[in-house]
Amino acid sequence: MKKPKISIAGCGFVGLVNAAAFASRGYEVIATTINKEEADIINQGKTPFYEKGLDNLLAKAIKLNNLKVIEDNQQAVQNSDITFISVGTPMNEDKSIDLSYIEKVSEEIGNGLADKEEYHLIVDRSTIVPGTTRNIIGKSIEKMSGKNPGTDFGLCMQPEFLAEGRAVEDTFFPDRIIIGEFDEKSGDILYELYEDFYKKHLENCPILRMTLESAELVKYGNNCLLATKVSFANEFANIAELVENVDINQVMEGVGLDYRLNSKFLRAGAGFGGSCFPKDVNAIKSWAENDGYYPKILNAVLEINKDQAYHMIEIANELIDSFNNKTITILGLSFKPDTSDMREAPSVKIINKLLTEGVNKIKTYDPKAFHEAREIFEDKIAYCESIEEALKGSDCCFLVTEWDEFKNLKPSDFQKNMKDPNLIDGRRIYNFNEFSKNLNFRAIGRKALKK
Ligand code: UGA
Repeated sequence: MKKPKISIAGCGFVGLVNAAAFASRGYEVIATTINKEEADIINQGKTPFYEKGLDNLLAKAIKLNNLKVIEDNQQAVQNSDITFISVGTPMNEDKSIDLSYIEKVSEEIGNGLADKEEYHLIVDRSTIVPGTTRNIIGKSIEKMSGKNPGTDFGLCMQPEFLAEGRAVEDTFFPDRIIIGEFDEKSGDILYELYEDFYKKHLENCPILRMTLESAELVKYGNNCLLATKVSFANEFANIAELVENVDINQVMEGVGLDYRLNSKFLRAGAGFGGSCFPKDVNAIKSWAENDGYYPKILNAVLEINKDQAYHMIEIANELIDSFNNKTITILGLSFKPDTSDMREAPSVKIINKLLTEGVNKIKTYDPKAFHEAREIFEDKIAYCESIEEALKGSDCCFLVTEWDEFKNLKPSDFQKNMKDPNLIDGRRIYNFNEFSKNLNFRAIGRKALKK
């Protein structure tokens, strides 16, 4: 089979990882971005953001001369056979989905197709509410190009399930591929592309074919159920804190071993953040509410999550009476380890709240997220170069993100550096008994030991 030429609209972590993955396996790829500086950086083989393994993959793609980043979607469409849409679908102020990038890129794709004779397949990878592929993307391409879906161009929706920090691995080893198809021909072309790309891996990775709208809703079902598991674990953590000697980690380990469940996403902590769970749960909730259905579980998931980061402050208040004039340490700023992303991160909620409590100084340390943190907090907080520096002279430490380098810390590291060793473990990475013996220690999902 001759490899189809691929274009990808959008160089965010999904678009760029996919572009580099196809290019590394011999496909000719044109990726597009509206940001010239970003295009230049990628064309030099450098990554514009941190994503584990992407630097090597991108270097390989550029070395093979298979990947070019440009700013013109029309040109990209005219010089390819299949176009993937991977543009952002952020949250509006009212928390509904903002489809403006989808609308714009669809029009540009339509313009590109107007002068093209050959059949072209368009595949949406962006997360969009049900009906968007058919009624916005399809209709807009039809209008701008004067061509017909099904005969002149094909249309698919293939949700992506890449987690930040694992995006390269998730791209090469997916657990399933969902193909929503306008018609059989569209789905067949995408199916063949993946047969060629994944080869033997497909023995362990079912490809499910379905309607465009079902595929759109699979993505929301997926993220909402994962977010529900996290909020469920956090609700149980709050229940666990009512009773002595109950430990949420032990409870969720026991629950997760049920053969009908699994133990993933049952880690209690400071709550979920990132660019996906908060945005997607809110988007599908607003969409359903607009259509007259009030989703009770989703509202509860968000309510639990809204309070969870602040719960760390409530716990800290049991250790120190007031934050007034105190020096506070925050270990971990990104919304989870292995990424520099701070969107909707629990650390942001905690720091903003502490800033209203009259603290003397907030000292922070994160292995990757300083650039992002500076954009948010400017000079309102201190950015330290080591854990030790962040702990020096501190009255209270919040462990907010479970980076590996924090896991090796011993009670003595806190004792020798802090003015007063008060520690709140917001991710349950420390041994409760050992740390409780040596420090003023509290943890999510565990009532304090009587001393
Ligand atoms: C999530 C999904 O896992 C991906 O499958 C999906 O493709 C992606 O959203 C997306 O829609 O693009 P991501 O947001 O990168 O990926 O991060 P996760 O690893 O899912 O973590 C989300 C949040 O839940 C983090 O803040 C994490 O700390 C929190 N979490 C996760 C917990 O608090 N407890 C857990 O047990 C697991």
